[in-house]
Amino acid sequence: MEDLGGQIEIPGDKSISHRALLLGAVTPRPVTVTGFLDSADCRATRRALERLGVRIETCPEGGALVVSGPGAGQFRSPVQPLDLGNSGTGIRLLMGLLAGQGVAATLTGDASLCARPMERVASPLREMGALIATDDGCPPVVLTATETLRSIDYLLPVASAQVKSAILLAALQVSGTTIVRQPAVTRDHTERMLEALGARIRFDKSHVVLDGPCALEGGAIHVPGDFSSAAFFLVAGLLRSERGLLIRNVGVNPTRTGLLEILRAMGGKIEIRDRRRSGAEPVADLFVQQSALRGIDVPAELVPLAIDEFPVLFVAAAAARGLTRVRGATELRVKESDRIGAMARALGAVGVVVREFADGMDIEGGEIQGGQVDSAGDHRIAMAMAIAGVVARHPVRVDDTTNVSTSFPGFRKLACAIGCDLAETEES
Ligand code: S3P
Repeated sequence: MEDLGGQIEIPGDKSISHRALLLGAVTPRPVTVTGFLDSADCRATRRALERLGVRIETCPEGGALVVSGPGAGQFRSPVQPLDLGNSGTGIRLLMGLLAGQGVAATLTGDASLCARPMERVASPLREMGALIATDDGCPPVVLTATETLRSIDYLLPVASAQVKSAILLAALQVSGTTIVRQPAVTRDHTERMLEALGARIRFDKSHVVLDGPCALEGGAIHVPGDFSSAAFFLVAGLLRSERGLLIRNVGVNPTRTGLLEILRAMGGKIEIRDRRRSGAEPVADLFVQQSALRGIDVPAELVPLAIDEFPVLFVAAAAARGLTRVRGATELRVKESDRIGAMARALGAVGVVVREFADGMDIEGGEIQGGQVDSAGDHRIAMAMAIAGVVARHPVRVDDTTNVSTSFPGFRKLACAIGCDLAETEES
């Protein structure tokens, strides 16, 4: 394959796009959102909010969204279930947002979402006074109308930004101080956005303190490019870009960029250029060049900071020299697929030697041969294995790729723009 390279700009951040819609929905004045990720997951959340009475309009010029909430306590109770599709962020954050709004609703999703754990969110919300039932821990989630919640001081049993955010969204209506403590650093987009919208909030690496009730101020939210989407091109560049690849306008919030540290420890040449701010979030351009990668023991404290990037990190490890060891990553088992099991199978199918553990994987680096793999219906596995094709000796064929649109519409086009030979077949 030819040398990859050039300049690209990747679409908006999925986590921040969700939060912009959800916080816009509970802000009395309209909120304007630019850079919104128009992907299947974000559309599912948008549709659910519209059915609850939130007005979301697209500006004819420039395509910004204007989100106008119905006002406190004015959400409609939908008769039919709200379908959040594949989106864990959508369903979990919506549970928190609706918990004290006097809304009766059923929240559901696709087969993958309906197999994912929801008690981790339902349980603290119940402690706050919400009435929530799950189906053996999973969706459908049934909310019974409740108007008065109480504040909580809660230690997260798992390091999860979705659980933390759901509690904070519920706490917005509550009189008193809510505290969420986290066992490890997780992404802090909700905290930053709440602060920018005028909430009385303080946060650091270990905890968040929110004084409610909060009357949020309207304003503008700009969504930077998604670091998790950039990750696929960072690895592609490390594997095969002698001339270098520039990825512009990428969110580099330090609670998201664990992969940068891991790849650099593996010998990856990545420059962070032109660091700047975009509203509440730091952004930069990333310049990456082909590098001789070596295997490492991935530091456990970086796992939550790189949690969505493991599929493509496993691919980098497979192409590196020596052994890469990942542990402390049990959470990967409850993502859009079991990402330890699915990646172990996919890498095995393209000739990589891996050993699976309950909380991680050992990967023997070397040559990727090629072959046919199944994405397990998981967008990040599909894209990671497409990147494996960049260095494989023979073609890599990835089956079941329609879910790429949940986070990264236009992935194939951008991959082709930097020189990847990535064809789409009819059944993919
Ligand atoms: C997300 C948090 C993470 C991440 C997910 C998006 C968010 O999930 O894996 O893709 O937007 O808050 P957990 O909160 O389950 O760790």
